[in-house]
Amino acid sequence: MALLFKQIHRDASNNHLLTVINDLKLVRDDRTYCGSLCLNRSSLTELEPQRHQFLSPSESKRWEKIPSDERRFSFLCGRIAAKKALNRLLPSIDPTAIDIEEGVFAQPVVSSTAAHGLQVSISHTGGIAGAIAFPEKHPMGLDIETTCSGEDPTIRSQLTEKEIKIHRELPYADPLGYTVMWTIKESLSKVMKCGLTTPFSVFEIDDINSDGPVHLATFSNFAQYKALSVILNDVALSIVLPKQTDLNLEFLTLEK
Ligand SMILES: CC(C)(COP(=O)(O)OP(=O)(O)OC[C@H]1O[C@@H](n2cnc3c(N)ncnc32)[C@H](O)[C@@H]1OP(=O)(O)O)[C@@H](O)C(=O)NCCC(=O)NCCS
Repeated sequence: MALLFKQIHRDASNNHLLTVINDLKLVRDDRTYCGSLCLNRSSLTELEPQRHQFLSPSESKRWEKIPSDERRFSFLCGRIAAKKALNRLLPSIDPTAIDIEEGVFAQPVVSSTAAHGLQVSISHTGGIAGAIAFPEKHPMGLDIETTCSGEDPTIRSQLTEKEIKIHRELPYADPLGYTVMWTIKESLSKVMKCGLTTPFSVFEIDDINSDGPVHLATFSNFAQYKALSVILNDVALSIVLPKQTDLNLEFLTLEK
């Protein structure tokens, strides 16, 4: 049945992912929560005409003051992904009626009563932005990174001895493994709202196990959370969520 609600498009020439909008069924022992995911590969030229359909008046004012095209794109692409993810959960709400403000730690804060009880986590990399929408009661974080970013020395320098050992066991060539580990740690830092202002060793990965194309990571210092990671062509994607919640991400890897 989930197939009916799935929207995944890939670039026919290179099979690169273009857009994903999908439900995230967050299954716990006592109840099931609903979340959603949107990934969007686009360009400023493509998105700019759409901005009045998605940005609230205050988001538009913020966007107009952004001096660089690069940041205009990441802001717009991220906000549109977040609005599409929220719209998935709130189909009758006009996206422009929802405000995603910036909190004191630069974290996104859904502040509109229309979306009461929901929050988002946003990430951008290269020409892609992604967002998840989730119930505030059920904290989550998202990070995506293009796997060809070549940042492995930087990432490697942020890994602990334990993580370097884990990295050696991963079924990827460099720099893919480092990128996956980076997204796992950055997603947790977003759940904690502190980002890279906290020493990255605090977010140490305790273990990574592969379940088919989906990798499951646990943390040394945050036993109540886990991360699920997938590789989508040139993008590594990780979602951190409460450890006791089941979430099936295989829809991302099965669609071709
Ligand atoms: C969170 C952080 C690791 C993200 O790094 P990045 O390279 O920008 O990576 P991404 O593209 O994946 O994520 C960007 C998104 O993360 C979100 N974000 C930023 N800070 C965040 C935080 N403290 N907690 C949770 N999410 C945060 C934002 O939604 C942002 O997108 P937006 O600005 O378009 O809304 C980085 O911004 C960071 O370390 N922030 C620390 C907090 C900080 O420096 N605050 C400054 C004011 S105190």
